[in-house]
Amino acid sequence: MTSVPETPAAPARAFPDGFVWGAATAAFQIEGATTEDGRGPSIWDTLCARPGAILDGSDGSVACDHYHRWESDLDLLASLGLTAYRFSLAWPRVMPTGRGAINEAGLAFYDRLVDGMLERGITPYATLYHWDLPQALEDDGGWRNRDTAYRFADYAAITQFRLGDRVRHWATLNEPWCSAFLGHASGEHAPGRTDPAEAVVASHHLLLGHGLAAQALHGGRRPAQVGIVINLYDVTPASDSPADLDAARRVDGLQNRWYLDPVLAGSYPEDVVADVAAYSDMSFVRDGDLETISTRLDWLGVNYYSSFHVRGLDAPAPGQPGARPTPWIGTEDVEVVDRGLKKTAMGWDIVPEGLRKTLVRIARDYDAPPILITENGSAWEDEVVDGEVHDPDRIEYLDQHLGAIADAIADGADVRGYFAWSLLDNFEWAWGYERRFGIVRVDYDTQERTVKDSGRHYAAIAAANALR
Ligand code: FCB
Repeated sequence: MTSVPETPAAPARAFPDGFVWGAATAAFQIEGATTEDGRGPSIWDTLCARPGAILDGSDGSVACDHYHRWESDLDLLASLGLTAYRFSLAWPRVMPTGRGAINEAGLAFYDRLVDGMLERGITPYATLYHWDLPQALEDDGGWRNRDTAYRFADYAAITQFRLGDRVRHWATLNEPWCSAFLGHASGEHAPGRTDPAEAVVASHHLLLGHGLAAQALHGGRRPAQVGIVINLYDVTPASDSPADLDAARRVDGLQNRWYLDPVLAGSYPEDVVADVAAYSDMSFVRDGDLETISTRLDWLGVNYYSSFHVRGLDAPAPGQPGARPTPWIGTEDVEVVDRGLKKTAMGWDIVPEGLRKTLVRIARDYDAPPILITENGSAWEDEVVDGEVHDPDRIEYLDQHLGAIADAIADGADVRGYFAWSLLDNFEWAWGYERRFGIVRVDYDTQERTVKDSGRHYAAIAAANALR
């Protein structure tokens, strides 16, 4: 009898030594306790109160009740063998009106949280701004007001003064594109405004705030590893017709280069400046701003979820703008093409190759610091069966994107770590609690946590430092 030859096991794809394996969350999405211990209101509390703004009419007042359950949530993180945690601080918890008085109880919460991480062998990666601007600053013009950038730098300095003996890794902003363009052009995010000109001003002041905060963090008494977190997409033209190529140039310009160029190269892309000229003459950019914005960074955070395939239409099609054109100001004549790819529960195309291309592009086009994948993950219609959550789609998404990262590293990209979005199901902004991204399920009635299959799968990858 001939023996059946064994199928050789697929080789494990090892990640570089020291690769960081973590999970991410954000304050407003998990903490709850929005009126406790002196926290001031934020622009997201205000937007949640606006009828129709949040899909399920919910808000962040309880969320995952993490403010009270942080110890067991850190235990959970440790039980998965993860050794890094990307969390954000709520500015209105630290400074209820965004300036002046510090709220000792708010800072004390983050003090305990950081100590709790260190006790469990978890390295903190703190994000200073994940969208929850103090409402008092919004009342004075928010990010449309240049002064907010300086207030942000003050908050960064104060926070680092208090936590910098234990926190080394700091991100200034999370996804400034969303704050500027979803917040001020499409109005889907707080502060829920719909004026393209305001979106351009806000985007500059956010970047200025980033630069000023980065300088403050570097100038503090403690060594700081400073980064910014940008959401990037691969943008491809539907054909090589001039109209499609130009559509892709414009969307890539607003979505990616509008942030990468000033932060990494100290200039705004000239073609995009020309594109937005109908809304803004950029006269608010002052001498020296771009030097500040391009302050040296120690790492670049990349959030990646999906990519866009776009077509240029012969005529503007207002009202028929494709999947998400409204925040891309001036692109009413661009349509996002449905390629028939598998989509997550957000309706986002799954394009792992876009992540590889994005990372290789950064290495090719920019003088960039090392990269951390600060968010990547997917929402699905999870079901609990006999107390378990079997989520093969999330596992597949995870494997495909980690594979894309391994490919990018092989192609020369300097990627040093990965943070799964998200540790917990949580408040998904305008979608409320209707979309679940967690590798751990949260039952919002009981606050019970259940590790999903994807959580166990991810833990095994992290333990092996390799993808099988
Ligand atoms: C990103 C956000 C994060 C989360 C994911 C799904 O844009 O940074 O808070 O909502 O999307």
